[in-house]
Amino acid sequence: MSESAKIIIDGKTYEFPVITGSEGEKGIDISELRKQTGYITLDPGYGNTGCCKSSITFVDGEKGILRYRGIPIEQLAEHSTFVETAYILIHGSLPNEKELTNIRVMLNDNSLIHEDMQIFFQNFPRSSSPMGILSAMVNTLRSFYPELMDSEEDIELTFLRLLSKARTMAAMSYKISKGHKVVYPRPDYTYCANFLNMMFDSPVKPYIIDEDLVEALNTFWILHADHEQNCSTAAVKVVGSGKVNIYASISAGIAALWGQLHGGANQAVIMMLSDILKNGGSVDQVISRAKDRNDAFRLMGFGHRVYKTYDPRAKIMKSTCDRLLSKFNIDDPLVDIAKKLEEVALKDAYFIDHNLYPNIDFYSGIVLRVLGIPTNMFTVMFAIGRLPGWIAQWKESIDDPDWKISRPRQIYTGPNENNYIPILKRK
Ligand code: SDX
Repeated sequence: MSESAKIIIDGKTYEFPVITGSEGEKGIDISELRKQTGYITLDPGYGNTGCCKSSITFVDGEKGILRYRGIPIEQLAEHSTFVETAYILIHGSLPNEKELTNIRVMLNDNSLIHEDMQIFFQNFPRSSSPMGILSAMVNTLRSFYPELMDSEEDIELTFLRLLSKARTMAAMSYKISKGHKVVYPRPDYTYCANFLNMMFDSPVKPYIIDEDLVEALNTFWILHADHEQNCSTAAVKVVGSGKVNIYASISAGIAALWGQLHGGANQAVIMMLSDILKNGGSVDQVISRAKDRNDAFRLMGFGHRVYKTYDPRAKIMKSTCDRLLSKFNIDDPLVDIAKKLEEVALKDAYFIDHNLYPNIDFYSGIVLRVLGIPTNMFTVMFAIGRLPGWIAQWKESIDDPDWKISRPRQIYTGPNENNYIPILKRK
């Protein structure tokens, strides 16, 4: 017997089916609501509204659980690599040796970008935001690689081309912004090692690959790889629902991630911690501003739409941060301020009452600083990490038989009908 929910409107009872997910989450299917009742629902920010059924990522915000295709994030962070995690998200299963080798070869074979694209990078103003450049250049990939989705091979090629070239473009835009010689990817380096080498190798100071830094980058990107229907993934799917190509859809996701409340928070956390340091290191003023309802200031790296407990990714990021700082014997004053801020906030009634805990962005910036990534590229690092999730979610939606073009409704609150008044008759 399938479950249903009854709604009584104007004395009449309506019944709608209840969908139960594999982890017991329940949803009322209201796809017939307006047709049957004339009513729509209203849910600003969609905090109570599901847009789809998905088998990719599971988040339990109350228990602080995150799993990709059922595998706990803690296990992936400890045992997997970013490339293998990308395969799991996109293909839905752990790759065997042959499949993993194949994906690695394809990522290498598609790691260069068309030489004509370099001119685009050279003509962006040096002060351009790397997120604006990345969004524009991912969109431009469509012009250089028009073959798209006519066969399973094309689909796989397009996904891996995007995953590999976005990383190359990010490093290239950094080098060109500095006026430095572009470094090409190397066939003997892994995905993450290649990125670090393309960012920091120089003819006068060869970059030495450090396996601990490569491992930290793998962990960083694994933690960012997907997160169900977050703002930028929703943007990718809304744009994709119009049957536009994947490059344009992902470009929209990069634009959405740019925002300070979303992927831009990792940069904002470092700015916030640096300001605290500049003002003498006391966290009290920031804490009181965050609690002041008349102040638009938010504690960056804290709070989450779904997690109402400690973000499991933040825990892993914090231990990665501690491991790196002790290995390289770095005394970063920002991490001491971050820990102090966390300690004070987690004891404060406001944060406890509002279920505000550190999220993925709170410690991620410290890890990126150890890797040598410039602050204005922090959100680009988030974007590269999120590529497999965007790709997997985009693919799942276009393959979904129930999928339709996204077109939310509204409750109109504007003026009722009135007439046009010729200019000479207006007051
Ligand atoms: C990411 O969705 C995802 O999965 C995103 C992400 C992913 O992997 O894709 O996890 C990545 O975007 C993480 C979040 C990064 N953003 C930040 O760290 C920015 C700071 N955080 C806040 O802006 C906020 O917590 C949000 C945007 C993350 C979530 O906001 P919500 O769910 O819309 O909550 P809200 O703004 O409605 O706030 C509810 C209450 C309010 O107080 P009241 O008006 O009810 O009294 O909590 C307060 C808010 O003032 N609040 C905060 C706060 N976050 C919420 N107060 C101070 N500081 C904060 N950080």
